[in-house]
Amino acid sequence: MEHFIKCISCGGEFGGNKVIYSCPNCGGLLEIGYDFESICERLGKSDWTSRPLSVWRYREFLPIGPLIEPITLGEGGTSLHRCQRLGERIGISRLRVKNEGENPTGSFKDRGMAVGITKALELGKRWVACASTGNTSASLAAYAAKAGIRRTVLVPKGGVAYGKIAQAIAHGAEIVEVEGNFDEALRLIIELAVRIPELYLMNSVNPYRLEGQKTLAFELFDQLGGRVPDCVVVPVGNAGNISAIWKGFRELEASGLLDPPLPRMIGIQAEGAAPIVKAFKSGSDAIDPIEEPATVATAIRIGRPASWKKALRAVRESGGLMEAVSDEEILLAQRLLAAEEGIFVEPASASSIAGLMKLRQSGEISGEEEVVCVATGHGLKDPEVIVESFKGPLSLQDFLLSIRAMAKAA
Ligand code: F0G
Repeated sequence: MEHFIKCISCGGEFGGNKVIYSCPNCGGLLEIGYDFESICERLGKSDWTSRPLSVWRYREFLPIGPLIEPITLGEGGTSLHRCQRLGERIGISRLRVKNEGENPTGSFKDRGMAVGITKALELGKRWVACASTGNTSASLAAYAAKAGIRRTVLVPKGGVAYGKIAQAIAHGAEIVEVEGNFDEALRLIIELAVRIPELYLMNSVNPYRLEGQKTLAFELFDQLGGRVPDCVVVPVGNAGNISAIWKGFRELEASGLLDPPLPRMIGIQAEGAAPIVKAFKSGSDAIDPIEEPATVATAIRIGRPASWKKALRAVRESGGLMEAVSDEEILLAQRLLAAEEGIFVEPASASSIAGLMKLRQSGEISGEEEVVCVATGHGLKDPEVIVESFKGPLSLQDFLLSIRAMAKAA
């Protein structure tokens, strides 16, 4: 698809297919732009409505040339669950959860990685890398394996959940441990990618990767029969995903498929890693980075989110808001979603549910609003969190005694 690269700060425009990770003029964040008239024309001529729900159903909206075969593991097309029981408990009559844990490597990152790795091949790159709190590295490793190219991941020492490291190892990534947190690892890999042209960076400062993630908005629109919910609640870490989802809604509108109002974008961070929430609440136009972010939700343990500016823009433009939740609230929400609805998510994902509970209580979200919470990653990625807080199984003897007591009482 014809496209260009645009700076969100100075508005500078650059040709498509350039390998740049920030604006050459002002250092601002980049995004991909399109001519929506030509998208509409292509949509009119294509069979897109008969394609299955998947990232590639929306190929006309993706910055990938017609000649390249997508690198795919079956990403997208995730379920949108109606959550009646949890909704009743929270006081939301129309609650749905989009379960991104159903993606091939168990997180939403696969949407972006499928497009990013396909782009890498289109550009002739044979080496991809990222910094990661775990899910990006698992996804990069799998898609680069499928593409047959070199893969390197930088992870913060001791800061990545067990299951995610196992994935990166299994998919043959070169794993580099960084003394320091995610922010430090990201700074390092960006520096390396700028210096080493062979190394193609897959973090969300690469605007091509984020394009895959906007397809979540398209899927919501399709799964709800051509309309959108009132609110979309999204966990926020490095802040790429909420920005991408908002871009998706805006593009549906720009192509004439969707009329306003668009959903309110609600971003949730963990209390110990919430610089964007702070900026939002104080009405500031800049974040004050957190040097030592801390939360049980390791996936979003990020103090200097790269895409904060895009996220603030998404939340403000959409009339949404940002909220922070405590570790306790996150773990409670994780339990509730698993025990009431059968959906097991990792702590970072549960922050969207925790945030919704808090905002419903404070009245910032009303019980009548139709809400979709994005559950970003599978619970099996971080089993330790659950097992650690488990009081332990019953002994067989205690179990049999309890049955005997039941029989006596009956
Ligand atoms: N939820 C999960 C499960 C994540 O892995 C991440 C980010 C987020 C939410 C936040 O998304 O960064 O786009 O705001 N994980 C990244 C990683 C940082 O390296 O896997 P975001």
